[in-house]
Amino acid sequence: MGALHEGHLSLVREARQMCDIVVVSVFVNPTQFGPGEDYDRYPRDLTKDTALLTDYNVDYIFAPPAEEIYPKGYSTYVTVDGLSEQLEGASRPGHFRGVGTIVTMLLNIVRPDFAFFGQKDAQQALIIKRLVRDLAFDTEILVLPTVREDSGLAISSRNAFLSDSEREAALVIRRALVKARDAYKEGERSASKLNELVRSTIDAEPRAKLDYVSVTDAETLQKLDKLDEHTVLIAAAAFIGRTRLIDNIVLNSSAKRKEAVKA
Ligand SMILES: Nc1ncnc2c1ncn2[C@@H]1O[C@H](COP(=O)(O)OP(=O)(O)OP(=O)(O)O)[C@@H](O)[C@H]1O
Ligand SMILES: [Mg+2]
Repeated sequence: MGALHEGHLSLVREARQMCDIVVVSVFVNPTQFGPGEDYDRYPRDLTKDTALLTDYNVDYIFAPPAEEIYPKGYSTYVTVDGLSEQLEGASRPGHFRGVGTIVTMLLNIVRPDFAFFGQKDAQQALIIKRLVRDLAFDTEILVLPTVREDSGLAISSRNAFLSDSEREAALVIRRALVKARDAYKEGERSASKLNELVRSTIDAEPRAKLDYVSVTDAETLQKLDKLDEHTVLIAAAAFIGRTRLIDNIVLNSSAKRKEAVKA
């Protein structure tokens, strides 16, 4: 959606390495914003984005006006059942319908061999992988790691909304997820205990207002009780002032074993 940052640029860099032709889409997609969300005040700076992208030698920037994508009478939407109702979907009804629709349209316009997405939006990435499989798109979806500031804060265009003090408060989200990961590494396998650990850590920061914490299977997004045998996604969303931020962490016991072997 533009207001490009290091997270986006990591995707561009990987695309540039893998592909002969690189297309970057910059589109603040109205259909994925709910009423009362930040569509109108979402940061937009195509001039700056274009300047940033010159260093990356991209072939095309696709930045259509909204009326061109959604002309009068537009009426077709794409929904992915089963992965869209929980987490972000529960807090932002209609959000993933908007995402599924725009991604379908972008894939149809560009017809890329590869498309690059970030793990920061873990549920989005799963939904897009499913959409591409179910609708037989000839595109391979690659999901790249979340780029963070040195502080640990996941980089997001919405971080631009944060005051200095809010930016400091926002660190609690990552801190809470890392706490849960540490507890998991120490052997904790109760989903509700990990959930409560994240929740109480975020609740302890007065400038943060928790939206949700979820502990689910990392592929199906099904809620879990016992975490054994699963790769686990812990995802959280919180308001820092008026700004809603998300982050997540993936836990799996085989990664732990690999680390142990290395040590
Ligand atoms: N910190 C990040 N690391 C890696 N990928 C990212 C990061 N932030 C965003 N992306 C990815 O960039 C793509 C475009 O995302 P988008 O334009 O919504 O940016 P954003 O920073 O998530 O903005 P916002 O948080 O305001 O929604 C998505 O695939 C998203 O997952
Ligand atoms: Mg985003």
